[in-house]
Amino acid sequence: SHSRLLVKGGKVVNADQSFEADVYIENGIISQVGKNLSTPGGTKVVDATGKLVMPGGIDTHTHMQLPFMGTFAVDDFYTGTKAAISGGTTMIIDFVLDQKGVSLLEAYDKWKGWADPKVCCDYSFHVAVTWWSPQVSEELLELVTNRGVNSFKMFMAYKDVFMLGDADLYEVYKRCRDIGALAMMHAENGDVIAHEQKRMLDLGITGPEGHEMCRPEDVEAEATNRAVMIANRVNCPMYIVHVMSKASADVIVEARRRGNVVFGEPIAAGLGTDGTNYWHKCWRHAAGHVMGPPLRPDTTTPKYLMKLLASGDMECTGTDNCTFNGSQKALGKDNFAKIPNGVNGVEDRMSVIWEKGVASGILDENKFVAVTSTNAAKVFNIYPQKGVIAPGSDADIIVWDPNATRTISAKTHHQAVDFNIFEGMVCHGVTVCTISRGKVVYEDGRFTVSAGDGKYVPRKPFSNYVYDRVLKRREALKPVPVEREPYTGAVYKRKEEKP
Ligand code: URP
Ligand code: ZN
Ligand code: ZN
Ligand code: ZN
Repeated sequence: SHSRLLVKGGKVVNADQSFEADVYIENGIISQVGKNLSTPGGTKVVDATGKLVMPGGIDTHTHMQLPFMGTFAVDDFYTGTKAAISGGTTMIIDFVLDQKGVSLLEAYDKWKGWADPKVCCDYSFHVAVTWWSPQVSEELLELVTNRGVNSFKMFMAYKDVFMLGDADLYEVYKRCRDIGALAMMHAENGDVIAHEQKRMLDLGITGPEGHEMCRPEDVEAEATNRAVMIANRVNCPMYIVHVMSKASADVIVEARRRGNVVFGEPIAAGLGTDGTNYWHKCWRHAAGHVMGPPLRPDTTTPKYLMKLLASGDMECTGTDNCTFNGSQKALGKDNFAKIPNGVNGVEDRMSVIWEKGVASGILDENKFVAVTSTNAAKVFNIYPQKGVIAPGSDADIIVWDPNATRTISAKTHHQAVDFNIFEGMVCHGVTVCTISRGKVVYEDGRFTVSAGDGKYVPRKPFSNYVYDRVLKRREALKPVPVEREPYTGAVYKRKEEKP
């Protein structure tokens, strides 16, 4: 059977410490971590001499085969997760995201039906709440209680499609808090975007640069502030997905300073490239970078976001992997507003963060593990099953060569999409071997995995990591009425009106 594996001679890197050790795995679970472990005969050995042995990456944000903007994302649960493991990611959290009016339970079942036969690594689901009703409210509880979902995404953008107004957001947040779920937000002002798109088109601006110009930083920052403000009113923990700008990041940092329970998620695209690409002379190149919120023309933004990961002000990293081929992007060749929004990242996130973070001297190796894996496991309540190399944890492990380099290119990547936003980037940090639930699934450039080998990972309500913050905040937010003497003076009497 596949049941015994020894990862030998490497340096184990966890979020809190690094140490030389072998890792012995039985039946998919880490059984021992230590030096000179004696193992039964027939144990397969992975040589990690001179390499780092780290928890596999957890990508907090993907959209495999998403039906979106008149088409479907080309990387599906097979190619997307296969690409993930080649890049050192062993778990994705994807989004169930259906139209307004569709039952969330039915949507969940549909997405799970797509994923289960195809996934090459473990996965879980956030569920998007795109409409609100008593039925949806009941379904949220069912998803938390019996489907293992503890995070719900809402949209302040995509007017008429996914967008919720503030009154609905208030209700969803209250419900999330009561049932132990984290509220996630796509924070952009959808009303303003709709008007600005029209204004740009009226000015004759139809190219991808219009996409950025109609949703500049403060469109993102305003919505981020509003999302955080409303969540704070009802003490619902808040997770801002795809933080793309300095202005939005600053809102999160300042809210955390005030004690708000809010987490920020930069993505690989925002850490590894920038919005100057929207002005590229090649239309396909420019359109290839179109996503919402947009990448920023301020070229100092990626480093700014990386430093906030280093300081702990932001904690998780995803990719928002949602890929479209040139022929699909071309749906918007005469109108940037019709370019399907989305970029790649699931394969390259680990390398990009290593290169721009660790090799650039901003993150150390332990912080790297924290922001690519451990923090996600804690926030989404799958720690210590995932996110750490320790006895009892799932053996989702990567052997990483920090000195080797690779050049990212659409010509050599494993994703289905015909474009790569990181084209030509030389990255230190190469995945030598990926182990998923104790099985080698990728080694020296070769896959040993089949569609459907991954498993759905159910998640329980609020981790202590989240709930302790909510409880602490509860005290600070408690309304304090004043005990005062009652008013004893005259009370104005309303005049009777003649019928
Ligand atoms: O442009 C993006 N981000 N596409 C995916 C959907 C979303 O909003 O996350
Ligand atoms: Zn979004
Ligand atoms: Zn080109
Ligand atoms: Zn997304």
